[in-house]
Amino acid sequence: MILSLLKHHKLSRNFTKPFEISLVTSRNCAKILGIETSCDDTGCAIINEKGDILGETLHSQNLIHLRYGGIIPDVAQDLHRKYIEPTVHKTLELAQLNWLDIAAIAVTLEPGLPLSLAIGMKYAKHLSRKYNKPLIPVHHMEAHALVARMQHNISFPYLTLLISGGHCLLALVQGVNKFQLLGQSIDCAPGEVFDKVARRMKLRNIPEYSQLCGGRAVEMAASKATDLNLFQLPLPLVDHKDCNFSFNGLKTSVMYQLFRKEKEHSIEADKLIPEANDLCAALLMTTSRHLVHRTQRAMDFCHNNNLLPDEKKQLVVSGGVACNNYIFNTLTELCNEFDYKIYRPEPKLCTDNGVMIAWNGLEKWQRNIDVVSKNINSLDIKAINVDTEVDNRAEVRVLAGGTLGSTSPTLPPDVVEPWGSSHGELSRLPHSPGDATPSGGYRQVSFRKSKKLYYREGEQQFQVGVGIVHKSLVNNIVRVESVITKFLVPGPKSYPIIGTLYKYWQLLGDYDTEAIDKAAWLNWRKYGGLVKEEPGIRLLHVYEPQLIESVFRQKERYPARRSHVAMHHYRLSKPQVYNTGGLLSTNGPDWWRIRSAFQKNFSSPQNAKQYVQEVDNIVKRFIQWIHHNKPSHHDDFLQYLNRLYLEIIGKIAFNEEFQSFSPHEQDHKSRSSKIIAAAFGSNSGIMKLDNGIMWRFLKTPLYRTLSKSQEYLEKICMEILLNRITFYEKEKDETDKSLLDSFIRLPNIDLRDLTGIMVDILMAAIDTTSYTTSFALYHLARNQECQDNIFNEVLSLHSTEENELTADLLSNAVYVRSCLKESLRLNPVSIGVGRILQNDMILKGFMIPKGTVVVTQNMVASRLPQYVNDPLRFKPERWIRDSEQFENIHPYLSLPFGFGPRSCIARRLAEQNMCITLIRLIQKYKITWMGGELGIKTLLINKPDQPISLSFTPRTT
Ligand code: KG4
Ligand code: ZN
Repeated sequence: MILSLLKHHKLSRNFTKPFEISLVTSRNCAKILGIETSCDDTGCAIINEKGDILGETLHSQNLIHLRYGGIIPDVAQDLHRKYIEPTVHKTLELAQLNWLDIAAIAVTLEPGLPLSLAIGMKYAKHLSRKYNKPLIPVHHMEAHALVARMQHNISFPYLTLLISGGHCLLALVQGVNKFQLLGQSIDCAPGEVFDKVARRMKLRNIPEYSQLCGGRAVEMAASKATDLNLFQLPLPLVDHKDCNFSFNGLKTSVMYQLFRKEKEHSIEADKLIPEANDLCAALLMTTSRHLVHRTQRAMDFCHNNNLLPDEKKQLVVSGGVACNNYIFNTLTELCNEFDYKIYRPEPKLCTDNGVMIAWNGLEKWQRNIDVVSKNINSLDIKAINVDTEVDNRAEVRVLAGGTLGSTSPTLPPDVVEPWGSSHGELSRLPHSPGDATPSGGYRQVSFRKSKKLYYREGEQQFQVGVGIVHKSLVNNIVRVESVITKFLVPGPKSYPIIGTLYKYWQLLGDYDTEAIDKAAWLNWRKYGGLVKEEPGIRLLHVYEPQLIESVFRQKERYPARRSHVAMHHYRLSKPQVYNTGGLLSTNGPDWWRIRSAFQKNFSSPQNAKQYVQEVDNIVKRFIQWIHHNKPSHHDDFLQYLNRLYLEIIGKIAFNEEFQSFSPHEQDHKSRSSKIIAAAFGSNSGIMKLDNGIMWRFLKTPLYRTLSKSQEYLEKICMEILLNRITFYEKEKDETDKSLLDSFIRLPNIDLRDLTGIMVDILMAAIDTTSYTTSFALYHLARNQECQDNIFNEVLSLHSTEENELTADLLSNAVYVRSCLKESLRLNPVSIGVGRILQNDMILKGFMIPKGTVVVTQNMVASRLPQYVNDPLRFKPERWIRDSEQFENIHPYLSLPFGFGPRSCIARRLAEQNMCITLIRLIQKYKITWMGGELGIKTLLINKPDQPISLSFTPRTT
């Protein structure tokens, strides 16, 4: 709208050139007459070059329209026509001036009611011709925005919020005719809502209000409210990240409440509902909150785009609704908090008037902008805002700096307001378990210096946001109207550049990268369920299952992760071998292309079932190998599990037998030994590399280990792949059921995709399953009764050592699966699940900006007594529905395979393989743990921190 006005103005400027010279002298001492007729007020004023008002007249049609129940354009036009001449004359008279004294005439040409605007324009043109005065076209909204400069020293640029009966907009005023529109109402204006509600409520029937405009009547009624919480009105556009406004929904809700109350009290004719004051208060408060939120977004936008230097942080509020003191006070609180100076013209200059038009005329006159002396016929009204151009950037990113604006500014759910007056949203929010903290922490917020919002957990107290606190309409009780939270989540102190990395430095820090779980635990003890860390990136640890659920319930097309950064870099540097960084490190559409292609073959239950027999055969051979070789408990059993899973994966994935138990493969230079070493070499450095940056500049030893390991896995995979492809060219092997066989047939997948997924499989399958099986054996070995339960369950399902295992049996083996589940609760493959937030979100009342890397701390949470009974005990029964010890565990507490589309693609296969291994081992042996307490080393995945020391005693049944 404003931009289109500018185009129009540029055209008209050409006409002013010849005139310029003759007026140079008078430009410095000019008296400007302004005419305003855009709506229902006939206004005229004369000001001098200093902005002194020499004369002003306003003929308001308010009373007439009040009687008619709204503005009727024809009536308004008639009244303008009738009053325009007397209004102008009276103004000249008051100023004691005649036409010779007037330098130019300014007149509103847009926006407004066409019939009304036309009267002002025609009369101004008539005067221009008659007295030979230049005309200056004025934009009504620009005039509202600029008039504050008449009485206050406000220099460009500044932010303006214009709220009236016809408009609601936020704009950046960069110059007299340079406006950047940041947002505007997508439906009606706040003044219009006040007017309509006042009318519908029949406020006019109260003598005191009978002469007032709707907005003023609502304001007065609201100040008499007795119950501010009686009506709950929805806050508009809470999920919209732009600076736009909307009032339609609010209007409808008020009308609905009014209707409801009228029915309830059987209200008739001229009567008002008894709760009229409370309803007005609810309307006023909600309007005011909406205005505050949007304005804050605009402030954020200006800040993030460096549009307003610090010394120019100024907000001008104008338009009829700006007369409202409650609204203005709320905005003042906002400005105080964000170091803005706030200005509003005196009330008579906020509502429509001739002075603002004259002032705008003067500002243009002094700069020779839009002064039209010839061809005044070229000027015309522009009634409707054609091509409204809102600055789209205002929509894009307001939150980069980490401040909130968009989403409903709710108090943290477990906040108690010190004044006991309940906040709108507060009552509807669920309470999170207050006893979730070790300190027994009942959390509370208190307000110091009336505005800062604190969050208390145990002994600690953190500032989490800013409360817009101000005197209430009733009895001056101080209450919180809005809370603006920032990314102020508690966490270790962060310093510039290094952030919180120092915590992990060997001498300084108390955290250890190989014991992330301990750091996570310390963080939780110290800071509670939501902890911020800044090791170079913005990291958020989430511990409470409800919050974890909220994180995963974010609707994201391609859930993103930040991990395997160095591996990603390595693979992308070899485009001849890889198309992408692989399933683990890739994000966005590229990730989805490979994930969706491989998904079906990998994770369908039918597909998993077809491997039961083959896997069982391999496991049986493993048992025989144990039987013959009798591994000692001084050996680390993990190395044998590595070989077992390499065999299983080789068969399932590639139809390849690595024969890793054969004597010649035991050598550390053998193929199988080198594959196992390479998989470990890849995995073990991932996390340290993710956290470090040095490898980006020079090839650090860790990076070299990673690339050497990847190279070896690549070589093996390419050999297998080429071999398989040449083979297929000759004849099809009907017995080959391997994943690779199905992958080769996929459309849209080429050899480089295949190499990538094969390396991923070797990397991701061996260590994860062998560590998990190690932990499961550790827990079972220390809980003989659980082994017996497995043994009996399998026996009851008619399986013997000699029988073949079937998919059916596996699905009925509830106890075995619960053992695995319980072991994974205590010792998941990784400490939690990572996500990069793709949208801002609110967690626990904190604003978490988009781009934050969230780590759900499932492992720590799964070991907390508030979520699991006797949490450190290995108790598979807690997962079994029929058991007396069954517990209703939060579904997001233990997520060992991740969540959603980014969860482990091979989950079914992995679970199946591990169940078969456990069943066969326990069928044959009683297993005893010979080592000490088993802990973890947090590499990318959690590795046992000591050898797996087991002794196997054959069962004698
Ligand atoms: O700026 P204005 O005089 O006319 C337009 O350009 O629309 O604004 C008039 C609007 C009316 O809707 C009126 O109800 C509202 O401003 N208004 C108020 C108050 N005084 C006037 N709204 C809320 N509180 C007030 N005190
Ligand atoms: Zn106006």
